[in-house]
Amino acid sequence: MVSKFDKKHVVSIKDFTREEINEILDIAKDMKEIAIGNKIDNSLNGKILGTLFFEPSTRTRLSFESAMKRLGGTCIGFARPGTSSVKKGETLADTIQVIASYVDIIVLRHPQEGAARLAAKFSEKPILNAGDGAGQHPTQTLLDLFTIKEEKGEIKNKKIGIAGDLKYGRTVHSLTHALSMYECDLTFIAPNALQIPDEIIKDIDRLGINYKKVENIKDVLSELDVLYMTRIQRERFPSEDEYLEVAETYNVKKNMLDNVNENLIIMHPLPRVDEISADVDETKHARYFQQAANGVPIRMALLKLLTEGYDE
Ligand code: CP
Repeated sequence: MVSKFDKKHVVSIKDFTREEINEILDIAKDMKEIAIGNKIDNSLNGKILGTLFFEPSTRTRLSFESAMKRLGGTCIGFARPGTSSVKKGETLADTIQVIASYVDIIVLRHPQEGAARLAAKFSEKPILNAGDGAGQHPTQTLLDLFTIKEEKGEIKNKKIGIAGDLKYGRTVHSLTHALSMYECDLTFIAPNALQIPDEIIKDIDRLGINYKKVENIKDVLSELDVLYMTRIQRERFPSEDEYLEVAETYNVKKNMLDNVNENLIIMHPLPRVDEISADVDETKHARYFQQAANGVPIRMALLKLLTEGYDE
């Protein structure tokens, strides 16, 4: 067992110290060859992962399933709550208590902020938060940090621009907190109506982190080590006209990358809609598909730590 890792659940990135995060990233590095099938590890043989997805998902659900199966375990669950007894009015608390008696570990995505914390209260088995409303998405943050570390060598002091819907984007909320722990220099790029919430700014102020808020990606692109794009949600805007007014500002195209830092990497939790043009995919800056692939080793590390500990 890793000596510093004493967590039962993964609900919020705020529950972790930088030291604990570093441990997880180190174990994920050990998992890389297993994640792509080049090495065999059946250490979770006999363990069952429950996947409870009350909202759509491609990457999070399937990378958890891949991680469990690569480690010799199996998965049960649902991707559409309409096929479970939630449809008959069963509460989340009851659903969790029952499923905890069928499996060894549970991954939960739910539209309500706080759902994972509530599930952890009612579950005798570890809960992994796979996104709770506009709250947190801690396993996404861990794979984001892993990607930055793999690509840049280290995370500390990097200049990171975070663009898109910073108000409602749960990946952004988790990531901002984590990057503050690594003393990164943060630039929040969003229209005023979708800027980073004040309570998050208060947190990073407390840590003495350098940050600024801007409205246009072009104004800061040349300064960045990492551009982290997120989806602007059309439905958040009061009118279609107001959406169209800002949408163009948040579309990164290949021809905008002429004067950027040559080591700039562009990340995105995906899915993207039109905020990164397809012509960026062929540039040396694109890392979003590698980032998605990194979900498997990170989730393998978490499954191992929470079900059996990890022997170095
Ligand atoms: N990044 C992410 O959470 O993707 P999915 O919604 O496809 O799981």
